[in-house]
Amino acid sequence: MHFLTKKIQEQNSDTIICFIYENNANKSETFKYLNELSNGALCEQINKYETITGKFQELFKYSINENLKALIVGLGKKENITRKKLSQAIAFATRTAKNVSKNSSIAIELIENDNCSINISEKEMAQITLTSARIGLYEFDKYINDKKTKIETIELLCNNITPDIEKGAEIGAYTSFAMKFAKDLVNESAQIVTPNYIANLAAQIAKEHKLDIKVYNKNQIKDLKMNAFLAVAQGSVNEPYFIHLTYKPENEARKKIVLIGKGITFDAGGMNIKPAASMLTMKSDMTGAASVLGIIQAIAKLKPDVEVHILSALCENMTSGSAYKQGDVLTAMNGKTIEVDNTDAEGRITLADALCYADKLNPDEVIDIATLTGAVIVALGNNITGVMGNNQKQINKFREIAENYCENTWQMPILDELKNNLKSDIADFKNTGGRNAGTSTAAWFLSNFTKSKSWLHLDIAGTAYLDKSNNETLSGPTGVMIRSIINYILA
Ligand code: BES
Ligand code: MN
Ligand code: ZN
Repeated sequence: MHFLTKKIQEQNSDTIICFIYENNANKSETFKYLNELSNGALCEQINKYETITGKFQELFKYSINENLKALIVGLGKKENITRKKLSQAIAFATRTAKNVSKNSSIAIELIENDNCSINISEKEMAQITLTSARIGLYEFDKYINDKKTKIETIELLCNNITPDIEKGAEIGAYTSFAMKFAKDLVNESAQIVTPNYIANLAAQIAKEHKLDIKVYNKNQIKDLKMNAFLAVAQGSVNEPYFIHLTYKPENEARKKIVLIGKGITFDAGGMNIKPAASMLTMKSDMTGAASVLGIIQAIAKLKPDVEVHILSALCENMTSGSAYKQGDVLTAMNGKTIEVDNTDAEGRITLADALCYADKLNPDEVIDIATLTGAVIVALGNNITGVMGNNQKQINKFREIAENYCENTWQMPILDELKNNLKSDIADFKNTGGRNAGTSTAAWFLSNFTKSKSWLHLDIAGTAYLDKSNNETLSGPTGVMIRSIINYILA
């Protein structure tokens, strides 16, 4: 996919997307240009027949001439616009344009920010536009024989291209690449995407981007004393791997961040096997790992003055003769012991060891991203990510950035009282504590394995993979929180 910034007179696409607000006489430069090209026929159409009134995600297709179509998309009432809505309208527009365009390129106007009631810079607008345009175009057709022509180029239209706009477009393009990378990896079968496959992929990425990498195999994981992680892995014929990639800025880093992605390449539940319907999408239980691998590639391109480490404990959670069992007591890398109350609460066990490993790197901040609990779906549904942590400043900053880059989050509490849920008679904790407050309980469990004073936990179990399309993303993987984490690192 190519991304270009262009003046409208220089664009080469057969489909141009522009946006209008509901009941708003002020039309954009792009709209005016298209209207001129049509000798005023476009405006006439709209005024006479009210073919489009600008309602949110309302659509009007108009042929300017044989070789050029205008796609006009409603943004809704000006006073109701949000960044999330901008993203939804843009993704909807490109998704539609993909089916309208006859060649492999589409053009999209940079929404004029003075025509917008929220405070948003041109740079941010360029960034959001390219990221969301790519969200709209995403599809995974590897296994579909009857392939449609793909859009290869997005032209971002604006009359006065500034360095800020170019920079925003660049960040947006790399962000959208990271999201596509992660979504492709989640879409691929668990039969192919094994721990070994991801470890090899990580090595390729490290080579391509000149990143430091460590890949630990089963014996080396043993040497690290990650016996909690190993217990989860022991039920599978596919051996576990632990990966660690590092991006270091050329000059001195202003901070060091460790990102941890949950990397269960398939979660059958273990001996506490999942019912069929719950197991159906469990190839997506490595979304955290896919996300951090996407993010590190964007970071390697964007080169912030921040040292970024990514970690993932990769394994399968299977039912088998060698699988770990209820009642087993496991010792994590930091010496703390875990009584296995339910083998399906495996993510927190693998993350426990990854968090201990992170401590050894002496980071300023740790962020983990995990498809961790069904309970977060009960609490927040499929469009809001649960955010937890032990540093309220970090949580607030992260949530503000997430909102600025069009992602919904909500904070869930981690309180001392939760420890009663996980009391064990024979170990330091059990790994589960009943149905109540499941998301917070899981986070409380994790908090025991980090020494970091700035640890942030993202529970994406509800938001990583959609059964039903929403206003922005079609069903399947979403690449959720990748935008937010990249922008958090850059901030
Ligand atoms: N991977 C699941 C969580 C999950 C559920 C992700 C639905 C995506 C969609 C996790 O490993 C799990 O099985 N959690 C259990 C924990 C329970 C046994 C305490 C759950 O939430 O049911
Ligand atoms: Mn599970
Ligand atoms: Zn899981």
